[in-house]
Amino acid sequence: MEKLSVKYLGIELKSPLIVSSSRLTSTIGHLKEAEDNGAGAVVLKSLFEEQISHYISAIPTKYGYPEADDYLENYMRLNTVDEYLNLIRQAKESLSIPVIPSINCYSSGGWTGFAKNIADAGADALEINVFFLPVDRKKSATESEKIYFDLIEKLKKTIRIPIAVKIGFRFSNTLNLIDQFYVRGVAGVVMFNRFYEPDIDLNKIDIIPASIFSTESEMRYVLRWIGMASAQDIKIDISASTGVHSGDDALKYLLAGANSVQVCSVLYKNGLGYLKTMNRQMEEWMDKKGFKSVSEFRGKLNYRNYGKPVVYERTQFMKYFSSED
Ligand SMILES: Cc1cc2nc3c(=O)[nH]c(=O)nc-3n(C[C@H](O)[C@H](O)[C@H](O)COP(=O)(O)O)c2cc1C
Repeated sequence: MEKLSVKYLGIELKSPLIVSSSRLTSTIGHLKEAEDNGAGAVVLKSLFEEQISHYISAIPTKYGYPEADDYLENYMRLNTVDEYLNLIRQAKESLSIPVIPSINCYSSGGWTGFAKNIADAGADALEINVFFLPVDRKKSATESEKIYFDLIEKLKKTIRIPIAVKIGFRFSNTLNLIDQFYVRGVAGVVMFNRFYEPDIDLNKIDIIPASIFSTESEMRYVLRWIGMASAQDIKIDISASTGVHSGDDALKYLLAGANSVQVCSVLYKNGLGYLKTMNRQMEEWMDKKGFKSVSEFRGKLNYRNYGKPVVYERTQFMKYFSSED
């Protein structure tokens, strides 16, 4: 067994580092480079339901024949999906690390059928990148969350490979949500996706996209929830995502209880070769602390194992303003 090996979604990974879904995982060249530099697994760029629908609606329908429109629609849909399926097959042929495709759905019914094609193409697991922005103030949190559960139930009926759900962090009760995933047979949860955010340009007085890349400080929020979620008495794996910019950052998530750690922004900045550096940093720390395997320290500082779990519950800075301190 290699020193950095971990188990995620029931699959052995030789490193906890996973290259997360992005353009960095959209070509066979990049995927090979990720493997050569020590990635434990790769999550392919998401296949977006919205993107496919957009292509389809952009097709000129000058003939006005409904049959022709239907044909074109199907052709576009199948072509886009075919390209994706080819990438999976190619990746499975040329890589030895696990290949995890990702689909992004914006409806619960959507296109769960494609999940079957993805599984048939040889995928080791499926990640669902899913976030339904609650924009309807009349809809309760329970109603909003039901869309996730409906989607998962449909997918579970369709495929047998392990499913990981990549979620955003704006839920009223994240631990309950994860529990609900678990009872529906989800094997893993990716905490958390980092979404497109709007910003404001004061000069132009206009809305602009905020930076698409994370900073290390964004880890803190995630760390709390991984520390809490990994301490629950349920068998669901956790893949940490957001803010990992070094091997040390990855170690923090492992200590909080993550089973694997996904990396994106820092690889855009430093290239996929940086995975090697991160693996080395983790090994050096393990040597220094006398750990021979990740399982010896994974979760050591989570909500259950840490002696003072109250540190995970504290939210206010009251203590610092109190005269008793
Ligand atoms: C340019 C770019 C493209 C991305 N595309 C996807 C995607 O297709 N699917 C997905 O689930 N996440 C996507 N993400 C989110 C990343 O996978 C990751 O969860 C997020 O960037 C947080 O990790 P980081 O802090 O290591 O960057 C993308 C991120 C970036 C920066």
